[in-house]
Amino acid sequence: MMPSEAQMQQAVDLLKNENVVAFPTETVYGLGARIDSETALRKIFSVKERPFFDPLIVHVDSINQAKTCTTAWNPVLDLLANAFWPGPLTFVIPKSRLISDTITAGLLDVGIRWPSHPVAQQLISKVGVPIAAPSANKFGRTSPTSAEHVLHEFGDQVFVIKGDTSSIGIESMVLAVKQVLNKDSIKNSYELSILRKGSVTKSQLEQVLSKANVTFSFISPLDRAASPGNMKHHYMPSVPFVICRNSAMKLSELATILNTKLAELPDEIEGVKIVKPKALIKKIEFLKLSNDAVVAARDVYSQLRAASSRGPEVLCFIQLPSQTGELWESIFDRLYKAASLILD
Ligand code: TXA
Ligand code: MG
Repeated sequence: MMPSEAQMQQAVDLLKNENVVAFPTETVYGLGARIDSETALRKIFSVKERPFFDPLIVHVDSINQAKTCTTAWNPVLDLLANAFWPGPLTFVIPKSRLISDTITAGLLDVGIRWPSHPVAQQLISKVGVPIAAPSANKFGRTSPTSAEHVLHEFGDQVFVIKGDTSSIGIESMVLAVKQVLNKDSIKNSYELSILRKGSVTKSQLEQVLSKANVTFSFISPLDRAASPGNMKHHYMPSVPFVICRNSAMKLSELATILNTKLAELPDEIEGVKIVKPKALIKKIEFLKLSNDAVVAARDVYSQLRAASSRGPEVLCFIQLPSQTGELWESIFDRLYKAASLILD
């Protein structure tokens, strides 16, 4: 579904006039501002209630535009961009002078992504400058995969371009790529670091790089400088969410255990309010996901929203031993952060 021309034009005008606009991408809906307006960029943080230490991803409409945002494009970025762009992969690489400290939270690297969604592409091209955009949700809360979710999040505070629901459903993989100059070898090598898992997988990256005979290694994000925004708690729905890793747990015992354990939780961790039950737990709602990881990823955020909006005292997900593989790991990365409690 493409928006009407009038709706697209309204969005373009708003962006040109230094306002924010929510728009669909294939991963989740984004809340965009032009990168050359400090006023507009600041509106993203105030509307989202997002702290300034959390950097924004810059969305571009081509590899050429991406190159204007960095001082260090390299052959491996070309390889990966050719394989995965436009699509759900964000490169974290040295920023150029076009990128302000507000975008990178003072870091020297910037996150850059060329989204595949036609509405996002059209919007960036029509505005004529890259668009910085986080997911269009309040800080710490569940990411939106439909225009309705964005409306629910911000009401008439934000103009949203109405498109289809996001087909991938979880945010892009965030990948830091560093070229290492070897003195004693003619060949350069590359250090990659996955800062956030996504629907692009590590094995897909390895396959592309090995095929092209690239010398590379993966380093743990912990060995890197700060990866802000990657906090323990995030994506939280409006009711307490619990993951039960013991699929043999007796349901009759669950409510009692939860009442005790949830009451013991702190109110806040790393600035994110931990969602706690409003009353004694009697009714437990269960989050159900498809066994097909692709479908589960697409639906996970909307299911979290739908189940919590039915107003249970607690929402529970029973993790199954069959839910393994790289895409499930990316889904669990989100679910674990959305959880107030994990039960073994
Ligand atoms: O799929 C996506 O990436 C979506 C859509 C809208 O494109 N965007 C998104 O943005 O998820 P956001 O702001 O919700 O998450 C971006 C995360 C930050 O929290 C941070 O962890 C990481 O990406 N990030 C961005 N720029 C970075 C940088 N310069 N260095 C390290 N991490 C960065
Ligand atoms: Mg987000």
